[in-house]
Amino acid sequence: YMNITSLDQMIHDTVAKYLKKQLIVAGNWKMNMTVQEGMNFLEKIGNTDANVIIFPPYTTLALLAGEMRKRGIHYGPQNFHFLDKGAYTGEISIPMIRELGCGFLLAGHSERRQYYNETDDILQKKVVKGVSSGFQVVLCIGENLEERKSGKWRNRLAEQMILDLKDLGHHELDSVLIAYEPVWAIGTGVSASIEEIEETHCFLKAFMRKIFGRELPILYGGSVNENNALKIGACSVVDGFLIGGASLDPDKFLKIIEISKRV
Ligand code: 13P
Repeated sequence: YMNITSLDQMIHDTVAKYLKKQLIVAGNWKMNMTVQEGMNFLEKIGNTDANVIIFPPYTTLALLAGEMRKRGIHYGPQNFHFLDKGAYTGEISIPMIRELGCGFLLAGHSERRQYYNETDDILQKKVVKGVSSGFQVVLCIGENLEERKSGKWRNRLAEQMILDLKDLGHHELDSVLIAYEPVWAIGTGVSASIEEIEETHCFLKAFMRKIFGRELPILYGGSVNENNALKIGACSVVDGFLIGGASLDPDKFLKIIEISKRV
């Protein structure tokens, strides 16, 4: 008889053979993690050769940029302005972010759209600014519960992609990753179902082929955790995760990183 561990290993080897991809594991710390807490977290994570990106709050980002780089972790801010400088109290600019050696920018998170009036018009300016400044931009899109239930989610997602990625050339699109985050699945503990994720990512990829003539990578976000990551990551149309809650716990985050290498 085969024991469970070797059976488990066999399944993973088989899965790995058919799906050779390295998923992207992005953590959005939101308004969590002081510098001290971030340092403790990074010490537990150690060095990694996986595709890991962390979006810490600004203060933690500034003070731990070197620590993240040392460990092979990519990093960037959760927001940025589309102008280089000026009288915009509370904002942060691309030159400030560049100074920290960031490679990635997060744009259009639903919390920023919802609480800080970030419109598609503003986002379009941010995306152009980010990619033309040489960064990889992770653009978040997602529908709310009402749009999901009424079937209007396709229109909403199409609208966000068209408006937010307007005026980008073919070459500039190389620097854009999409994070599909259904608003109703964020922070609820219940992710979208595998069927919903597959259907939505397939729709997005088909839509991109139609309007851009190519596909962009799509991360899924919304209650991803160490228990559902394998199943979600095994979908061929999922290129990685954008993780909130589970990215704050080093043990959970490490498990997801391990899964990203195995899938
Ligand atoms: P949760 O993983 O906590 O649901 O958050 C998802 C998210 O908003 C990541 O940007």
